[in-house]
This record gives sequence, structure tokens and C-alpha cells, in this order.
Amino acid sequence: MRSKQNLVIVGGGSTYTLGIIMSLVAEKANFPLRKIVFYDNDKQRQEKIAKASEIILKENYPELETFTYTTNKQEAFTDIDVAFIQIRTGGLRMREQDEEIPVRHGVVGQETCGAGGMAYGMRSITDMVALIQDIRSYSKDAWILNYTNPAAIVADALNREFKADERILNICDMPIAIMHSYASMLHKDVWELVPEYFGLNHFGWFTRIYDKEGNDLTDTIKNKILEEGFIPKDKEIAHDESWKQTFKQARQMLIDFPEYLPNTYLQYYLYPDDLAKKEEIGNTRARQVINGREKRVHEQCDQIINAKTAAMIDIESDIHGVYMIRAAASLVYHLQETYIVIVENNGIISNIPNDAMVEVPASLTKHGPKPYVVGEIPRFYKGLIENQLAYEKLVVDAFYENSYTKALQALTLNRTIVHAPTAKAILNDLIKANQGYWPALK
Ligand code: G6P
Ligand code: MN
Repeated sequence: MRSKQNLVIVGGGSTYTLGIIMSLVAEKANFPLRKIVFYDNDKQRQEKIAKASEIILKENYPELETFTYTTNKQEAFTDIDVAFIQIRTGGLRMREQDEEIPVRHGVVGQETCGAGGMAYGMRSITDMVALIQDIRSYSKDAWILNYTNPAAIVADALNREFKADERILNICDMPIAIMHSYASMLHKDVWELVPEYFGLNHFGWFTRIYDKEGNDLTDTIKNKILEEGFIPKDKEIAHDESWKQTFKQARQMLIDFPEYLPNTYLQYYLYPDDLAKKEEIGNTRARQVINGREKRVHEQCDQIINAKTAAMIDIESDIHGVYMIRAAASLVYHLQETYIVIVENNGIISNIPNDAMVEVPASLTKHGPKPYVVGEIPRFYKGLIENQLAYEKLVVDAFYENSYTKALQALTLNRTIVHAPTAKAILNDLIKANQGYWPALK
């Protein structure tokens, strides 16, 4: 019998929380819980999700002893074994700014890539550091799993602040979401696939995909993508036009660069002009999410709350939730299962800097993640990664040193921008839009 855990979900008001709750229900044998508590700094936003979650849990998780939600950190973080963090400093309103401002200057406007990613990163660091300090002051041994974006920048800042803390893990669901589509093309279960992968967050490649018996499926996957196309399969994104376009573009990347299977986010760096041209100021991804996922989730909550039952609502566990939960279970119960996670390089990829936060497969153990060796990567990937890494490091430097120059260097290096005057104009606009969130740059 696995011991029961106490879980806090930080960012309880997130549009992803209901999916995580359904995933916790589906995974209760793998990751049994005694207590779930939500924490959010936005009381109202959290309350709606929490009230619906309470009903779902009552109906589907009677074994759970306690469910609470709070805006009080002490109450939330005391006596916790595991923390899932998924916050968005500034909310979707600021995501909209991040995505609009670069587009006004003719370049990619995206949540985590390019100028939008930098803006979001400089907002996230302060809150993330404070949250982790607070969690640590009340639950010093809790496992902290972080989904907060932009994960590359957040992970770098957290590594600077909490280097010795082996119980903080940054993680992203994009590799597993991509693997979910591979699995579906092969008529297999996603958990049967074993990946080899390297890169930075939202900036990586699958070099090989095996099954559990060690059969190499890589070429079959590549051929299928080339012949049949590539489409999102997880229910959360399968019917979303923007995600369908993104997956379609992954096929083009494979045609142009057939060596490895790309993370979908590479489209912004490899085809920045095409992507920028497609963006519409009035229809940013943030807008689509506000009018789409956010609206849908809030309506589902209202229906559940009004009917006092969730029986009629079609919400399922999703790969986003299940990935986080199974990763946590592997850490807590020392299952030594392999997950793609973000860790300090330290020689894993031998020809890039040791202090890079890299995204690679690791065995998740009770002593933390134990990454597998990647070795030397070919020049093309090394070149791209070194460039992106310099951008990421400069963003975090700019944050800690309050440096305008480093922020400008970062944006100029970013492949979605390149032109220094454009970088400068965007930076000046971002500074204005992020007053009160960013440190004052000098
Ligand atoms: C994937 C990425 C996340 C990102 C999300 C955005 O799940 O891994 O890092 O936040 O996509 O999706 P959205 O539908 O909000 O644009
Ligand atoms: Mn991600």
C-alpha cells in the first residue's frame, strides 16, 4: 500500500485545475491522497474552481479526508508532502499584453517564446521565489513540482536561488503531449513509449523513441508524420485550431530538418517571419484562451455548483495532470520511472555549459531526478541551444541586476527578433506595460 500524501495546488484558480482534479481521481491508486488544499492569491477566481472541485471530489474521491482552499499561505503550506505550482503572475490579461506588444512590432507574440516569454519571465520570478520560500518555511521536505512558465527562465532563477534544494522539480507537459500523438499514430498507449530527448524547455528534440521492449519506433513515427501529417491528440488540445496548426508545422520542421523529431515550440524560432505574419493583434492566443478554455471551465464550474453534482459534466483526466501526478508518485515512492524534466546540465549534454537548465529524460527517485547521459550534440543543435541559452541567462541576469542593457541584449539575441532597434522598441513598450511587475531597469 502506498502511503497517503497531502497535496497543495498553488494557483488553485487556474483553468487547468479541474483537469488536474479529474486526473487525481483517475490516479488515486498510483498517488493516494489524504488532503488536497488549493492556494491562490485571487480569492474569487479560486473560489469558483474550488467549489466545483469540492463537489467533484465528494462524488469521486470519498477516501479523501480533507479538501480546503485558502488565500492564506500558512494554512495552505503547513503539513504538505507535495506542492504542484501553476501560477500566472498578471493573469491572462498580462499574457495578452505579452502577445500583443511584439506583434505590433512585426515579430512573434507568444506566451513563452521571444519577447512575450521574457516579459512573462521577469514577472514570474519574484512570485515564484517568494512562494518557494514560503512553502519551505512551513513544509521543509515537501516535493515541489513546478509547471509555471516560462519554465526555462523560471527554472534558471530557481536554480540560482535554491541550488542545494533537491526537492524542486521544473517540468513541462509539451514533450508528453507530443508523445501522446506519436502513441496514438502507433495505436499504442503513451506510457508504453520511452523517449530519448535533449534541449532546453520549449526548445528540444526527440532523438529516439523506443517501446518498453526496446524496439526502435523512431523511423516509423517519422514516416507516419510525413505521410499522414501530425495532429494533437490530447483531448484538451485536439479540437483547438491553433494547436492543430502548431502540430501541422511540426511536420514541416521534420521535412526541413529530418534528423530528429522537434518540439512543436521550435516553430517560433525556425520560422519566425511566417509565424509573425499569421498573428492578429485582436486574436492573440491569450484572447483565444480567455474566450475558449477559460470561459468553458468557468461555465462547467457554474453548472456543477448550481446542480450540486458533477455527474452530467464531461471532464476527464488529461495528460497535463496525469504527467505531473505520475512524476510526483515516482519521486515520492522511489519508482525510478523515466520522465522528461528540467535539470541543471552538469555534463549531461557534454558540449554545452554546465549551468544550463536542460530538458532531458531522468529517472525520478526519492533522492531527486537522476538524468541520463546525452553526450555530445551535433553542431546545429548546439548552435541553436547556445544562442537560446544566452538569451535565457541574460533575461535572468537582467532581472537580478536591474539591467536595461542585458534585457536589450537578451531580446536582440532571440531568434524571433534579431534586429536591435526592434528589440529596443519592444523592450521600451514591455517596460511600460509591466510597471509594478518588473524590477526597474537601469
Ligand atoms: C503547453 C505548454 C505549456 C503552455 C501551454 C499553452 O501545454 O507546455 O507550457 O503554457 O501549452 O497552451 P495554451 O493553450 O494556453 O496556449
Ligand atoms: Mn510547457
